[in-house]
Amino acid sequence: MAKLSVNVDHIATVRQARLINEPDPVTAAALAELAGCQGIIVHLREDRRHIQDRDVEVLRKTITTKLNLEMAAVPEMVDIARRIRPDMSCLVPEKRQELTTEGGLDVAGNYKPIAEAVQRLQEAGIAVSLFVDADHDQIKASRDTGAEYIEIHTGHYADAKTLKEEDLRFDEIVKGIDYAVSRGLKVNVGHGLNYRNTQRLVPIKDIQEYSIGHSIIARAMLVGLDRAVREMLAIIHG
Ligand code: PXP
Repeated sequence: MAKLSVNVDHIATVRQARLINEPDPVTAAALAELAGCQGIIVHLREDRRHIQDRDVEVLRKTITTKLNLEMAAVPEMVDIARRIRPDMSCLVPEKRQELTTEGGLDVAGNYKPIAEAVQRLQEAGIAVSLFVDADHDQIKASRDTGAEYIEIHTGHYADAKTLKEEDLRFDEIVKGIDYAVSRGLKVNVGHGLNYRNTQRLVPIKDIQEYSIGHSIIARAMLVGLDRAVREMLAIIHG
């Protein structure tokens, strides 16, 4: 059965709006776990706009499921991950000006630094996932780095403005997942998934894990985190 990992970055976004210590993403992670999610994700950005180093350190000691640390493939972040030892590191592209991650990694175009990051993380016993678009060249390059997982970027599917475009993006995801699995990769999906567009992915049996943040935290503000996580689990598990 596919797993749900909840990204709690936006709990930290609210906290950082006042630069105080609440709400705490550590508390949110515990509540999400009690509601039944199978993993917690945080993105430690180079500009520390939401998640702080302390959050990752405390989460490593407190969470009872699986910690996935999203991060740029840069030496500073690799060193932090090797010290904190999340269960998984998901390597993502990062731009200072972006509101959120805008697309997949260009693994083919930045092969050497990414492959080095993968190797250094794996040496520390950390499973590595590469966040990529559903593009065969990027998927093949991801496999060549030695990463065991990719996370297919579902943002273009989620952002589709017409049904026709959504169909196209959905087909790309299906083909990308088939190709990745045929190359021996395990596949997660994420970005822009919500209570409307996740359902369509559920029949794709090769999806190992859904990585969902914004929609769950947005719903949690209105109905509570426990209910928001349980409602998403009900979609994924049917
Ligand atoms: N996966 C990756 C690699 C991401 O960067 C993000 C956003 O932090 C997500 C999944 C979750 O996206 P969303 O917040 O839109 O659910």
